[in-house]
Amino acid sequence: MSRFESWPEPIIRVQELSESGIKEIPKHFVKLLADRPCFKETTSHVKEENNIPLIDLENLNSTDESIRHETMELISTACRDWGFFQVVNHGVSHELMANARGVWREFFQLPLEEKQKFANSPVTYEGYGSRLGVEKGAKLDWCDYFFLHYLPEGLKDDDKWPSLPISCRQTIAEYGQEVVKLCEKLLKILSINLGLNEDYLHQSYGGDREIGACLRVNIYPKCPQPDLTLGLSPHSDPGGLTVLLSDTNVAGLQVRRGDNWITVKPVPNAFVVNIGDQIQVLSNGMYKSVEHRAIVNSVKERVSMALFYNPGGDILIKPADELVTEDQPEIYSPTTFNKYRAFIRTRGPYGKSQVESLKSPR
Ligand code: OGA
Ligand code: NI
Repeated sequence: MSRFESWPEPIIRVQELSESGIKEIPKHFVKLLADRPCFKETTSHVKEENNIPLIDLENLNSTDESIRHETMELISTACRDWGFFQVVNHGVSHELMANARGVWREFFQLPLEEKQKFANSPVTYEGYGSRLGVEKGAKLDWCDYFFLHYLPEGLKDDDKWPSLPISCRQTIAEYGQEVVKLCEKLLKILSINLGLNEDYLHQSYGGDREIGACLRVNIYPKCPQPDLTLGLSPHSDPGGLTVLLSDTNVAGLQVRRGDNWITVKPVPNAFVVNIGDQIQVLSNGMYKSVEHRAIVNSVKERVSMALFYNPGGDILIKPADELVTEDQPEIYSPTTFNKYRAFIRTRGPYGKSQVESLKSPR
């Protein structure tokens, strides 16, 4: 649990700033030169073949064994090499995806007073927020968000979910159920690909009673000086697996590839899947949680919904015994996700420094 009860500075909603018509962004959004999105032209708007892999999950049901095998291989390579992939034919209804996006857009369009009823604090982060981290004077990201819990059942409190628009709670609940099913399927695939029992990752997360699922809906308002700031600073996701639905008519997510930032090309009705730090640890480094960030622009706001599928908070997470060998000794020391998560909640997004800090001394 965070020991911080309240934010270190008054909260200013980025959406309000954006809509106020300012021409220059306040200085606490201006990143240091080296952290700006266009620094040294490392941002590449690359050709299709150099983008994160796109995988058709329906191929896993093919009657042709070689197609099934090839698809498992594509996922395996994506997890080892990119830490990211997109999936289509994933089983989640496209109508539900559109509805979920719709209710969130409507929520963010409500008058400020209505949204403020759900204002969050750093104690649990649940609700309507505008910063990650509690360090006074920190550089902030050009983003507002809403954060809520689905699982475990004991953490779910739908009184804390938006009450408007009217259909919001029901749509959000249905969306969570469907995407959690997809996460269960993906964890099985990853377990098999790692050479483990198909329910290994599920069990190590704490099984049905403990597994966590939470949603962070990000809104990146239009920004008058997009070259000076970021929508979300570089970070790897602290949890297990992330399934992201983002707007298809505007790009913004960038994934680190060596010294480059690759702009993910949005595919209609696809989800972006990425490996979080806990799977990097459980897989003893075979799978990588890769750094990513979001850029903003001056023309179009962007909404994205990240569902995080996480180990239970009090479960000890450590590399799978089967993946610790003489050639590949245990890389990371065991920790619990609750302890682990306190870091990003205090310091905000900070690249991959945290998972690096878990490396056992050799
Ligand atoms: C996140 C995240 C990226 C995006 O919420 O952790 O990385 O494109 N979001 O919104
Ligand atoms: Ni992320």
